[in-house]
Amino acid sequence: MIITGKYPSLRLRRTRQHDWSRRLVQENNLSSSDLILPIFLTEGKNKKIPVQSMPGVYRYSINNLGIIVDKAIKKKIPMVALFPYTNPKIKDLSGSESLNENNLVCRAIRYIKKRYKNNIGVMCDVALDPYTSHGHDGLLKKNTILNDETLDILTKQAVLQAKMGCDVIAPSDMMDGRIKVIRKKLDKENLKDVQIISYAVKYASSYYGPFRDAIGSRLLLKGDKKTYQMDFRNHDESLREVALDIKEGADMIIVKPGMPYLDIIRSVKDKFKIPIIAYQVSGEYSLIKNGIQKKIINEKSIIESLISFKRAGANAIITYFADKINLV
Ligand code: PBG
Repeated sequence: MIITGKYPSLRLRRTRQHDWSRRLVQENNLSSSDLILPIFLTEGKNKKIPVQSMPGVYRYSINNLGIIVDKAIKKKIPMVALFPYTNPKIKDLSGSESLNENNLVCRAIRYIKKRYKNNIGVMCDVALDPYTSHGHDGLLKKNTILNDETLDILTKQAVLQAKMGCDVIAPSDMMDGRIKVIRKKLDKENLKDVQIISYAVKYASSYYGPFRDAIGSRLLLKGDKKTYQMDFRNHDESLREVALDIKEGADMIIVKPGMPYLDIIRSVKDKFKIPIIAYQVSGEYSLIKNGIQKKIINEKSIIESLISFKRAGANAIITYFADKINLV
């Protein structure tokens, strides 16, 4: 029970009068340690290619990764997340490029870990969508995404990335049981200190559009991802997903997208004592960025959007704004 008293002896405006007292009573804050920066990768040399639907976001060739990773380290961002734009010519039905130890992601992991050691963490998605000719996260057979057959490939992909030096494996495919089999296999391969951040709560969302442009899967995608990603009408189901992934060995949990799902972050935080990462996805980024460019909203809307995740209970946020904001 909150004892409040009442007007005129109580005036909630009193502590709002000055900047110093507003700062004293503030309940949440944002620091650079709360941010994870996604980086898109491209083949070639000396490349920094703008992603059309994401103003201010680029795909970097490996020899140019220093530009963006240096910036992340200077801004004290703890971790980057790598996403490849795979040459469409080498995409196939089973996403076989995902298991090539010289694919873009593997080369990028080696480059970053060799050059920066443990000065920054590296996280990689485990899913097949950057590599499949149909744009799905799993194997597709007669319009069905195969669960258990996909798990075999995902496990190999996770072990490969971990062997390359990836610190954090992030399965984003939404197959059932993947955390369990990946954890088991990592342990068996003596990769027991590699962390798993599970995209436990990932909704089938329209807000992923610009990301699919960035990795070149939007035009390839056949149908939708509703048979594996969650229905955005559901709340309770998110708690079942999280409960399972914690049991299976997840170290942290992602809720994705971000702003339309703040209620989910709060519920998961209240129920489970586990670090939660909010993913402010590409569509959210582009909407805010376009609004700022068109002067519909101002730049402060960025911090407001990020603080909303902290207020909802997130420990950290994956955001394309991570390298673009200044924090103390
Ligand atoms: C792929 C993946 C997606 C995102 C991250 N990993 C897209 C999807 O599931 O279709 C979306 C990120 C974003 O929109 O910023 N498994």
